[in-house]
Amino acid sequence: MTKSFRVLILAFLSVGVFACGGGGDSGGGGGADDTTPVSFSGSVQPIFTTNCVSCHSPGGTGAVLDLRSTLSYANLVGQPSAVTGTPPSGTLVVAGDHASSVLYQRITGDGLAAGEDIMPQGLPQLSDTDKDTIETWIDQGAANN
Ligand code: HEC
Repeated sequence: MTKSFRVLILAFLSVGVFACGGGGDSGGGGGADDTTPVSFSGSVQPIFTTNCVSCHSPGGTGAVLDLRSTLSYANLVGQPSAVTGTPPSGTLVVAGDHASSVLYQRITGDGLAAGEDIMPQGLPQLSDTDKDTIETWIDQGAANN
């Protein structure tokens, strides 16, 4: 085996390691690659459970929208916003169109009506990775997967 061939193999190996490491700890979904299917139950719901359910469940200040794991999907996809700002907020998740989805508007601030707070309310914003995961899931058709 020539020396240059060994170098080539090493180069391939390190590319492989880098590609695997690049997925981060997001549980296999989301991330930078928009073609990798994002799992609602595996990648999106954990974001809600960690950052949102404390308010978005019965008794919480955001109880108007229950984001607990067995309920969130049915409460979001194709559902009208319960909060009417000016203009009225619209649909919480429009499958295939993150920009028109109130959920996405709430976590980024893009297109929010006056008086509507960015989420999570009063707390630091979600990481860019989490925002990307939700954006990609919506654009891939908001499947219950
Ligand atoms: C500290 C409490 C709190 C946390 C944490 C929180 N929210 Fe909210 N959320 C609220 C309140 C209160 C409202 C309603 C008032 C308003 O319109 O701003 C609301 C409204 C919303 C709405 C609009 C509902 C509708 O019917 O139009 C969405 C969507 C939303 N939150 C998503 C989230 C998401 C996603 C997270 C986690 C990333 C989150 N919230 C975290 C308190 C919270």
